[in-house]
Amino acid sequence: MGKHVAVLMGGWSVEREVSLVSGSAMAKALRSEGYQVTEVDVTPEISQKLAELKPDVVLNALHGRWGEDGCLQGLLEILNIPYSHSGVAASSVAMDKILAKKLFRSVGIAVAADCLVDKAALFEQDPLPRPFVVKPYNEGSSVGVVIVKSGDQFCAGDPGPWHDTDKLMVERYLPGRELTVSVMGGKALAVTELQTSKGFYDYEAKYEEGRTHHIIPADLSADMTGQLMELAEKAHDVLGCKGVTRSDFRLDDGPDGDGIPYILEINTQPGMTPLSLVPEQARFCGMTFEYLVNWMVEDASCGR
Ligand SMILES: Nc1ncnc2c1ncn2[C@@H]1O[C@H](COP(=O)(O)OP(=O)(O)O)[C@@H](O)[C@H]1O
Ligand SMILES: [Mg+2]
Repeated sequence: MGKHVAVLMGGWSVEREVSLVSGSAMAKALRSEGYQVTEVDVTPEISQKLAELKPDVVLNALHGRWGEDGCLQGLLEILNIPYSHSGVAASSVAMDKILAKKLFRSVGIAVAADCLVDKAALFEQDPLPRPFVVKPYNEGSSVGVVIVKSGDQFCAGDPGPWHDTDKLMVERYLPGRELTVSVMGGKALAVTELQTSKGFYDYEAKYEEGRTHHIIPADLSADMTGQLMELAEKAHDVLGCKGVTRSDFRLDDGPDGDGIPYILEINTQPGMTPLSLVPEQARFCGMTFEYLVNWMVEDASCGR
């Protein structure tokens, strides 16, 4: 019998549903590769569950808070169980968009101007010239990302999608194309352009089949493709990431654009559903989904 892998999925973050889809797809792939697999829907009792199961490796399919932000990684370090993806510090910094952007800036990666504001103050005065983007600084899957344009009504008392947070991140709106680059073991795989009919890559566009068009490889010059791949590797590196990550960029290369690729964020637990971008880029590079998941399990470690 192959190694016993516990695939951790679900959890109780806002990204629970996506994680369940990623986790089941990965578990299925691992069984076909001969691993002994236990699928675990994570609850706050996860520590006891892992002590009972005693897996050889954890494949972490969680997204969002607790699973992607260093908390679970810290628990796995204490339990001394090798786990996939990034370690405690990299996971935690990547989840905090404000901190991560400071590190990106420090190595010369362009980022959008931003500020952190009190939710109440946001409704009194615009913190940046419109259009601007409001988002939680520690969530994913576009939950709570709102683009505010001139003329938009924005009223106090409307809790919006941000009911359980006091501070929000406000960013300059970056016009242009949406591009994403996966990095596997320190090496960038490809550049995909995401085109959505809705103009913004929101939660539905990300997870409903056919809502977003993926163009792989993105129609860019060889020079720009190379630049984006290098920036994604640099972003992965400066945060000390491991395993697979995916960095999201915006690029305005139109006649009025500045032609500069800006990083939006790095995802340390990128989606692994059948629709997801990382499996698609791996396939583009000749790797099957099974190969990719197998690689993640064999790359797992603890105590870095
Ligand atoms: N500053 C920005 N300018 C333009 N679009 C943005 C900006 N920030 C976010 N977006 C849009 O919102 C999406 C989600 O934002 P992102 O920062 O990647 O958060 P999440 O962690 O929720 O994926 C992006 O993929 C992009 O389409
Ligand atoms: Mg994103």
